[in-house]
This record gives sequence, structure tokens and C-alpha cells, in this order.
Amino acid sequence: EKGEFKHFMLKEIYEQPAVMKAVLEGRINKGHLLEQAFGSEAGALFDQVKQVQIIACGTSYHAGMIASYWIEQLVGIPCRVEVASEFRYRPVVMPQGTLLLTLSQSGETADTLAALREVKDRVIGTLAICNVPGSSLVRESDLSLMTNAGPEIGVASTKAFTSQLVALMLTTLALGRRNGLSAEREQQILVELQQLPELLEKLLALDSEIEAMSAAFAEKHNALFLGRGTLYPVAMEGALKLKEISYIHAEAYPAGELKHGPLALVDKDMPVVTVAPNNAMLDKLKANLQEVRARGGELFVFAGQDQSLKQQDGISVIRLPAIPTLLEPIAYTLPLQLLSYHVAVLKGTDVDQPRNLAKSVTVE
Ligand code: M6R
Repeated sequence: EKGEFKHFMLKEIYEQPAVMKAVLEGRINKGHLLEQAFGSEAGALFDQVKQVQIIACGTSYHAGMIASYWIEQLVGIPCRVEVASEFRYRPVVMPQGTLLLTLSQSGETADTLAALREVKDRVIGTLAICNVPGSSLVRESDLSLMTNAGPEIGVASTKAFTSQLVALMLTTLALGRRNGLSAEREQQILVELQQLPELLEKLLALDSEIEAMSAAFAEKHNALFLGRGTLYPVAMEGALKLKEISYIHAEAYPAGELKHGPLALVDKDMPVVTVAPNNAMLDKLKANLQEVRARGGELFVFAGQDQSLKQQDGISVIRLPAIPTLLEPIAYTLPLQLLSYHVAVLKGTDVDQPRNLAKSVTVE
């Protein structure tokens, strides 16, 4: 039941601190990852993995994109990610030692299941990260890791996405410890993950500020979302949320692509949402923001602690608390979920049941 919340989506957004706890529960012992959480055969299989192929659809695909950055950075093995509906219909090369990692909230998405069935005999093993125990995807995979997010009713995926990201970070650690990631680094990352509930509570406290910002979108027909690095898939997820529930056309771009086309769209009617944490890419991102302002584009910036990004004419800034770099994609997702939620409420759309969409896409 929705309880005090007006919509399931809002309830599920607010459940995220608790969900962060649930996905870590029983998976850490004395500061280290318990890899039996993936299944009793996990260790032997992980030992043989030389690369990872991630397959998913929609929001789950965005989680996979973030994981591909993490795996190449922290494990140092190749990681590819593709939407299931493309992957399953093309001749794919599966190099020796490939782990097939499928991501799905429901575990019943037709294309993801079909992709798994298509290549399972050509990979070293299969791992499903899923929110529904006993689902087809879990039953048909060698290993699985449950996201423990609890039932997600809103068609727009929220807590399932952030819990997938935590599960993907645990997977990254399991592979990393076999590829030179030190025990100290693993421990440090696990400590950071355990701070997520507290951190996400602080982000939820920005809700009224985000609600105030949402008014600027209610009359708009388009929006651009920009990010760099792991925040690019976060921008994609923010754009998907906005189009899905508010029916505003939204596109995400890696900020560096702006000049290669989308800048032509920017004018006063094109709000540009930017996720701009205080990381190594910030200076580059700021240059992109200048380009938007110079064309009269109105900026909505979710910023970190860097004080040079200031509220001014044409730039609305919401400042987030300090966030460990690896956790930025998890943290910056929350304000974007809230933004699309409030825009949809203002527009009066059916937040939990957007038109034309189904919660579980079990047909092609
Ligand atoms: O159950 P799955 O994670 O496999 O579902 C995949 C997509 O259909 C799903 O994430 C969809 O994109 C969401 N409605 C987005 O909010």
C-alpha cells in the first residue's frame, strides 16, 4: 500500500535508503564481500572470467552502462554492454572467458531472457542480477544476486535501479579481487556503500527544493540532460524518467557531444539539466555549460560542493552533499527521479501507470 504517499513511485523513491541496506544485508563479513551471495559455485566461476558482457533493457541497461565503467576501472578487464533487443538478433562474438551478466528488475523481460538463451552455451557462465527470486532469468542462470528492493509497483523504475547499482558494485569487487584490486580498497568501498542509507536520506531532504525547480519544466516540450563519465548513464536515466511519466521529450548526451549536434537545439525553450558532481570531469563540464548559456539555454544543475557553480540568471543550482566518487551515479539519480516525479504531478499525468507502458515487458 501507498501509505502516506500520493503515488507508489514516490513511496519507492523514499524507500531507497532502506533498500540500500537490504541489498548489502548478509553480503559483507568482517569488512569483506561474501561471494557465496552469488551462489555456491561463484568463486570457481569468477576465477575464470576474462571479460564481461552485460545485457539488459531500459533502466536496467543504464545500470549496466555504469557498471561497465566500474569494471574497466576497478577490475581492468573488458566489459561490453548492449540492449538485449539488439544483442539477440545479431551475430555476436563471445571471446573466451566471457561472463554473461543479465540485469532485470522483473526477471521476465522477453528480450533479456531470449538473449540469455541465445548465448548461454557460448560463455563461461551466466549471472543474473534481479529483484524477483525464482523468476525465469534467475532460474536459467548459473549464478544470481538478488537486489532485495522489495516489490516495485510504479512502472517507472526507481529503487530497482539504485539497488542494481549496489549489486553491480559488489560484482565489480568480486571480479576485482582476482585482478589486483587490493583488500584495503575493497574494504574502503564497502564502507562507502554502507554509508549509502544515510547519504540518500540527505538527498531526499532536498525534495522541496527540487519540487520548486520542477515548475520550470511543466510547460516545456523538450529537455536535454547532460553528464560525463558514469554520470552520462545517470543523465540517460533522468531523461528516460522524465519522458516516461511526464511525456516531455527528453534526450541525454555525454556533455562532450554537445558541439557535435545537440547544441543546435539549445534556446530559451530548451531546459538543460546537468549532473555535475565535483569530480575530475567538472572543469570540462563547466565549459559545456558556458556553451549552453551563451545560446540562451536555461540550466538546471545538480552540483557538488564546488562553489564556483553558482545560482545566477539562467542557472538554477541544487547543491548535493559531499559524495564519494564511486557512489556519485547512485546518489545523483535520486534528485533526477524526484524532478521527473514533481513535473509529472504538476502536469497531472498518471505517474504510476504511464500511458502505453507495462511494468513487465514479457512480449517482444
Ligand atoms: O524488468 P526489467 O528490469 O528487465 O525491465 C526493463 C525495462 O522494461 C524497464 O527498466 C523500463 O525501462 C522501466 N519502466 C523504466 O522506468
